[in-house]
Amino acid sequence: MSTDNTAQSGELPTREVTVTVNGEEVTREVEPRLKLSDFLRRECGCRGVRVGCEHGVCGACTVLMDGEGVKSCLTYAVQAEGREVESVEGLSEDGLHPIQESFHEEHALQCGFCTSGFVMATKELLDEDPDPGREDIEHGLADNICRCTGYQNIYEAVERAADKMDGEGDGDKMDGKGDGDKMDGKGDGEVGEGD
Ligand code: FES
Ligand code: FES
Repeated sequence: MSTDNTAQSGELPTREVTVTVNGEEVTREVEPRLKLSDFLRRECGCRGVRVGCEHGVCGACTVLMDGEGVKSCLTYAVQAEGREVESVEGLSEDGLHPIQESFHEEHALQCGFCTSGFVMATKELLDEDPDPGREDIEHGLADNICRCTGYQNIYEAVERAADKMDGEGDGDKMDGKGDGDKMDGKGDGEVGEGD
């Protein structure tokens, strides 16, 4: 860890931060005020991390830090020092995760801006409770706002994901069940990725 007090020279001080992002260790020299959301998007290429309100209200920026959902717009990158951070990109390295498949199959997105946040909030919910009831789902996703879908399809997607992941513990990839209508999850902004 280095601290550079360069106030006299007019340069902003920086600190070294090392974060495990989607399984890969990333070390960068950052300003202490850098938000985790900006760190993930700019320094780690995680463009599925959306920045909406930047006030901790909409949940679009939700990622998991050591398995717990955090609003990355309200978290500084230096607070993630030594922690494991998972964004939506971490779910789909070997094809779509069952949660992403379920959002697709239930048409649980329209513009898609909120989707990666919902997907990560769903991941946290199902890791804690693999078989949530509708009220549990509504409660679990209460920190995330969608302006397009009316929520019903999102809730149904979570129920479908829970069915798919039944017996798979913390959400490992499914084994090719489902309807085969898979997407490659890259670049088109659907199912919670891209920018
Ligand atoms: S952008 Fe972080 S909660 Fe809205
Ligand atoms: S799909 Fe548009 S904000 Fe949720």
